[in-house]
Amino acid sequence: MGVMVFVFFAFSLFAFDHGVSGKSIARVEDFELEQQLKQLNKPFVKSIQRKDGRIYDCVLINKQPAFDHPKLKYHVLQMRPTSFPQGLKLHDESSTLTSTYLEELEDGGCPIETVPIKRILKEDLIRTKSLSGIHPLTQDRGGSHYANTTNRIPFGDGYYGAQAIIGIYNPSVSYGQASEVMISISNGPPLNNIDVGWTVNPILYGDYRTRLFTRWTGSHNTGCYNTNCPGFVQTNNKIPLDNHLWPISTYGGDQHGLAFSIFQNNETNDWWLNIGGSTLGYWPASLFDSLSTNATSIVWGGATHSPVAAIYKAQMGSGRFPDEGYGKACFFSHIQLVNEKTSNVFTEPSFVTTSADKPLCYNVNGNAKIGDGTGYSFFFGGPGGICGY
Ligand SMILES: *[C@@H]1O[C@H](CO)[C@@H](O)[C@H](O)[C@H]1NC(C)=O
Ligand SMILES: *[C@@H]1O[C@H](CO)[C@@H](O)[C@H](O)[C@H]1NC(C)=O
Ligand SMILES: *[C@@H]1O[C@H](CO)[C@@H](O)[C@H](O)[C@H]1NC(C)=O
Repeated sequence: MGVMVFVFFAFSLFAFDHGVSGKSIARVEDFELEQQLKQLNKPFVKSIQRKDGRIYDCVLINKQPAFDHPKLKYHVLQMRPTSFPQGLKLHDESSTLTSTYLEELEDGGCPIETVPIKRILKEDLIRTKSLSGIHPLTQDRGGSHYANTTNRIPFGDGYYGAQAIIGIYNPSVSYGQASEVMISISNGPPLNNIDVGWTVNPILYGDYRTRLFTRWTGSHNTGCYNTNCPGFVQTNNKIPLDNHLWPISTYGGDQHGLAFSIFQNNETNDWWLNIGGSTLGYWPASLFDSLSTNATSIVWGGATHSPVAAIYKAQMGSGRFPDEGYGKACFFSHIQLVNEKTSNVFTEPSFVTTSADKPLCYNVNGNAKIGDGTGYSFFFGGPGGICGY
């Protein structure tokens, strides 16, 4: 009996104590968030609010968040690559597809010498807390699935660029899930990678629109999405890294695609990002170890991420299987890579393997024909849902 009373007393003490410190923890957290925001959001010369409410601050280009990275302390800002690889894809010339636009920021974009950086709000920090430090290539969250095409390099060689036109869709996902379509370049171990493409990711963006996304992992497992941590140097004053995409392809209707290219500047070794013919910016070589030399693997394809316990998986691509073909399944076309540093030319890949880890949910068809002059292409994707059990 005495023990029971003691236990009860101890428990209520604990509960009481917990209740009080719970509130002060919330206050401390709030204060910490405010401090974090002050650090993250830079002074700006102008800000632009989009129709969807998102605010972009026009920050002096040499004062943007990237330069908070200790490795970029003495980095010399590059305004453009010193050379472009030959054959850089700007848009589809075959006229099978209609391009998706990168709708520029309203009001002519940011003034000269400044670049648009999404203003981070307290709610963004709270929402994305679960994403910080996640590099899905090194830390599989258990609920991640893939359908892709990989180009592995013969030992000792390297890749210096990858590009494709990617079909643009709006797959359905639930809160807490993400659906991604991307080109992923990597080297290692230890793993270094850069992923670029489009995604629907309500935790990352706070909405269910199809948006551009990028993600990198550099030395010592550093890195993040977009400009959520210092790293990517934005040079474009009109198109932010998280831009929404429009128009979207419809099932059985118009197909819209967008050209994504990532390539290493063969003099500085920085990795540049070009989307739909616009140069957005670059990841300086000094962020990486192995990837500052070359990439040894290039992957084109889709991924979905769900909490491990989720019964319903997100859709991938158009939400349809690849065997439905053009007009219905999501696609990559005009797939090319750069495999020689000095000649610096985009060519078709030659060591391609396809892979899907849950073919009852999502699959990939490596032998697709989209139309004349659409180059090496494939279909991929699937409905997710309750599958693979
Ligand atoms: C590419 O990177 C790998 C791994 O870092 C390295 O072993 C190889 O020598 C590099 N290739 C070239 C051609 O530089
Ligand atoms: C870089 O590529 C250009 C062609 O785009 C070529 O003329 C030049 O020689 C290359 N430089 C190096 C260092 O490989
Ligand atoms: C490609 O798919 C395989 C599984 O089929 C997966 O293990 C790998 O991580 C995927 N690669 C990328 C970059 O998504």
